[in-house]
Amino acid sequence: MVAIATPLTQQAGIEVPLICGAMYPCTNPELVAAVSEAGGLGVVQPLSMVYVHGHGLREGLGLIRRLTTKPIGMNVLIERSSRAYLERMRRWLDVALEEGVRFFVTSLGKPRWVVERVAPAGGVVYHDVTERKWALKALESGVHGLIAVNDRAGGHAGPRSAAALIDELGDLGRPVVCAGGVGDEQAFVAALKLGYAGVQAGTRFIATDECRVSEAYKRRIVEATEDDVVLTERVTGVPLAVLRTPYVDRVGLEAGPLARWMLRGRRTKYLMRTIYALRYARGLKRAVRGRGSSKDYWQAGRSVAGIHGVEPAGEIVRRFAAALRAV
Ligand SMILES: Cc1cc2nc3c(=O)[nH]c(=O)nc-3n(C[C@H](O)[C@H](O)[C@H](O)COP(=O)(O)O)c2cc1C
Repeated sequence: MVAIATPLTQQAGIEVPLICGAMYPCTNPELVAAVSEAGGLGVVQPLSMVYVHGHGLREGLGLIRRLTTKPIGMNVLIERSSRAYLERMRRWLDVALEEGVRFFVTSLGKPRWVVERVAPAGGVVYHDVTERKWALKALESGVHGLIAVNDRAGGHAGPRSAAALIDELGDLGRPVVCAGGVGDEQAFVAALKLGYAGVQAGTRFIATDECRVSEAYKRRIVEATEDDVVLTERVTGVPLAVLRTPYVDRVGLEAGPLARWMLRGRRTKYLMRTIYALRYARGLKRAVRGRGSSKDYWQAGRSVAGIHGVEPAGEIVRRFAAALRAV
């Protein structure tokens, strides 16, 4: 395959500037491998690997390695919700480095300790940001690139549009990757034309053969319009993009009064975040692995507008790459 070179492809050692973003609970090893094998970059979500899909991290990385020898990435969520959780993340980072992973996407918190472990091993760290002030903080920690999460993204969306974000971040001297709203090849090409070094897509890769979520969830993504995507605070305490369901409509989108009060307090906010993290982990896992319930949340971003079918993940990478080469 002819490589389409950007600063992202050069730093990550990949052929197509397309990342399949980490997704709790949707990322499974087969999906990561399929994206990387086709020339993009699959990113492991370690919590999803271990708690949803039932592989030890080292064993799951080994499974990916049997499916592809191309580069993969790993997500390191560094939120300070609990010390035990951070300790586990540190161990997982070491396992990933031992197993040859050299591309890391950090989210939340300060990525300095991740950079300090990854850079000496020859790896790179890209940090998720939603505004310039967070990007400046990430640069102080020495990150190699930025993932600009915009207002159309799945997961925790940001407040700015893709165009506004590249204006804000384009002069910082680091590659900037567009996260949010890319569901088809036209949007992919448009993001690169705006000046992004690549795209991180999430929702598009849920509607694939390799992603092990329920058929009902995939079908809903294919059928949804962007007006079906709403931001709810009820899952994690901060806006999370989910598909509307009768349950979502009934309970509303705001956090309850007790949760809001706890999130305001200096001490209580950490406890509330831990409660949210546990509920989030359990509730979302059930949404993809369990029997399913009408109270499940299905995460998706506004990129649903460009998704019209369930496809093999590698086909998506190849189609996006072909569209980019054509321009
Ligand atoms: C179901 C789902 C789960 C996600 N989970 C995570 C996560 O665990 N860690 C993370 O850094 N980003 C997470 N994201 C964000 C994605 O990695 C990616 O940035 C985002 O999906 C891009 O927007 P798009 O869905 O419009 O393509 C998640 C997104 C979705 C849709």
